Amino acid sequence: MKYKIAVCRFVLPVLLLLLIAISPSFAQQKMNQFITGLMAKMTVQEKIGQLNLVVGGEATTGSVVSTGVEEKIKQGKVGGIFSVSTPQRIRRIQELAVQQSRLKIPIIFGMDVIHGYRTIFPIPLGMAASWDMQRIEESARIAAQEATADGLNWTFSPMVDISRDPRWGRISEGSGEDPFLGSAIAAAMVKGYQGKDLSADNTLLACVKHFALYGAAEAGRDYHSVDMSRIKMFNEYLPPYKAAIDAGVGSVMSSFNDVDGIPASGNKWLLTDVLRKQWGFKGLVVSDYTSVNEMIDHGLGDLKAVSALSLKAGLDMDMVGEGFLTTLEASLKEGKVTMAEIDRACRLVLEAKYKLGLFDDPFRYCNDVRAQKEIFSEAHRKIARATAARSFVLLKNENVLPLARKGSIALVGPLADAKENMVGTWSVSADVSKATSLLAGLKEVAGTGVQVRYAKGANVSEDAALEARTSVFGKPWQRDSRHPDTLIAEAVRLAKESDVVVAAMGELAEFTGESSSRTDLNLPQSQKKLVDALLATGKPVVMVLFTGRPLTITEEDQKLPAILNVWFGGSEAGYAISDVLFGDVNPSGKLPATFPRNVGQIPIYHSYKNTGRPLVGDEFQKFRSNYLDVSNTPLYPFGYGLSYTKFEYSPVKLSKTSLKGAEKLMASVTVTNSGKYAGEEVVQMYLRDIVATNTRPLKELKGFKKLLLQPGESKEVSFEITTNLLKFYDHNLRYDWEPGEFTVFIGTNSRDVSSANFTWNR
Ligand code: NOJ
Repeated sequence: MKYKIAVCRFVLPVLLLLLIAISPSFAQQKMNQFITGLMAKMTVQEKIGQLNLVVGGEATTGSVVSTGVEEKIKQGKVGGIFSVSTPQRIRRIQELAVQQSRLKIPIIFGMDVIHGYRTIFPIPLGMAASWDMQRIEESARIAAQEATADGLNWTFSPMVDISRDPRWGRISEGSGEDPFLGSAIAAAMVKGYQGKDLSADNTLLACVKHFALYGAAEAGRDYHSVDMSRIKMFNEYLPPYKAAIDAGVGSVMSSFNDVDGIPASGNKWLLTDVLRKQWGFKGLVVSDYTSVNEMIDHGLGDLKAVSALSLKAGLDMDMVGEGFLTTLEASLKEGKVTMAEIDRACRLVLEAKYKLGLFDDPFRYCNDVRAQKEIFSEAHRKIARATAARSFVLLKNENVLPLARKGSIALVGPLADAKENMVGTWSVSADVSKATSLLAGLKEVAGTGVQVRYAKGANVSEDAALEARTSVFGKPWQRDSRHPDTLIAEAVRLAKESDVVVAAMGELAEFTGESSSRTDLNLPQSQKKLVDALLATGKPVVMVLFTGRPLTITEEDQKLPAILNVWFGGSEAGYAISDVLFGDVNPSGKLPATFPRNVGQIPIYHSYKNTGRPLVGDEFQKFRSNYLDVSNTPLYPFGYGLSYTKFEYSPVKLSKTSLKGAEKLMASVTVTNSGKYAGEEVVQMYLRDIVATNTRPLKELKGFKKLLLQPGESKEVSFEITTNLLKFYDHNLRYDWEPGEFTVFIGTNSRDVSSANFTWNR
């Protein structure tokens, strides 16, 4: 009895209190109270100061840089800083804020941690080619661990802009052409960065960017206009941003481009109606680098006008441009913006800091011991190596790969001994001196039984001015001053003396990335000449292709017996490429973006719609939708990638062929590894809605599974299909499915599939 009373009197109330204390609404209330209290003490100028994001100087991506930062911090005119790192530097800046500013509000520290921090993983397009969500999440988790150990708490990633135009240099920073794959990756990245608890000292606030449609810039020219129907936006371009929101991303970056006639940074429909009202986003929206100011050039008015427009549209933080800092107070006095709008933005900035735990401990992320131990650790490098090897795509292989561990290899090409080039674009925090070149990696992985010798063979391009334009973020590129014929002759001599040639070719890292759009996606002439000279020796030539985008390598595909696409694989890529060349790892990457035959085919992607005059067969037909001079088909389709082993697919088997309402359909195939090597295969499932009220793609990716099969092993792979997967936005932007007949395709890439039909009624 006594015991019962004790339980009722003491234990239950304590439990109840505990429950309330840990319930999200209680935590939310506590945060709201704290922020309301703090904001009550803030002047208008201090509130506006929180909306100001300045750049610290390690990496600037525009012509404007922040000035007078220390003074501004003391005056409470800075909410956040980016591109500064190390616990010592960050501690010093944070001290200015929490010791010398009136209200002692801590600063948030951001950086472009895009594909790793110091341990660099493959560029995002390469990570996407792994189709491996666990590895992708893990790479983000490792990036978060290293970046937070170096004092940071906010990353401007994931970049989820769909792009179907490889002329656009920033296709390298995203997940390619497909919204389904892109959405899965967006969610995995957010989970990896943010973990379960943003206030933990090893998680980062993520920022999904660039909202929205940045990857659809006209003609693939960076920062160019975007014009797109809403139905295309909602079905094909917006899903990855939404997936990041659904995964709980804490911040969003607005893009440079216009959307439906209004630049994203001042677009209320986009930043408020879609993002907040329709999708329920509750976090912080930051502009891109001076994208508020750039609306002046877009023709929307002076700095005061565009800053007010942005705030009213739903933008909270102004990156570098200081339009908010310098004009909002006047706009408030003139009634052009309201106090409620400034308060909204200020509250969201403070909430982000609160969630990161900065009000509890502004130095939470400044831990010198962690910085020493956790950055570029052996364990992280090992994971980066294994992940890179799984991102490579074997494009062609006529019995050349894997290489035998015997005899001699001639390693040639301008990218063979180029460790500074391995990490790829947007790796500002990388220590390129610690990356491993292919030459170093190959020698080590080959072991003593193989002779590896090197000759450069050619410069990356015959155009020195083009190469010079690619030196940004402290990655200088040294050209070889010898005559091109001398370089080729040396490589040819070496090839003749060797059993096999490995040619490291392709792009410089900064041929892609921001402000690196190109109109010619062929291999440069200098490298083409080298390929021809090497082939003329009669030795087998394996091309290791470095690229940040689909290239038009139609000629090389015809001439060379083997091509391994390695993107920019990160700090451990030299080892990872060698692991794959020798068959220690069987390649399993699949293309996340279609490779065109020539630039004229762009945009080219797998989920295109039928025309009223579709081409039947492959031959040219007059008055059909095709070209006079090139086939409609790509060089390599979306989802394509070979293996050292062979995978056989059974026909598609359906659990039913006629369904109703909330039923579920299972579509299965049996995949058999009929080759000699163990290997991983990405089994892909596509759907087609055969008759609908709107035109629909001929094939859309709706599922994928990556599985490991031993030689001789078979596995059944099943995909569950519900009506959710059949839904689409119609011309009224109604999101639903329509009854009727559908096709499911399953296969090894978007082209090589088998199919079955089913009907689904309400
Ligand atoms: C401009 C880029 O568009 C964006 O991706 C990046 O996060 C910012 N610069 C900050 O460096």
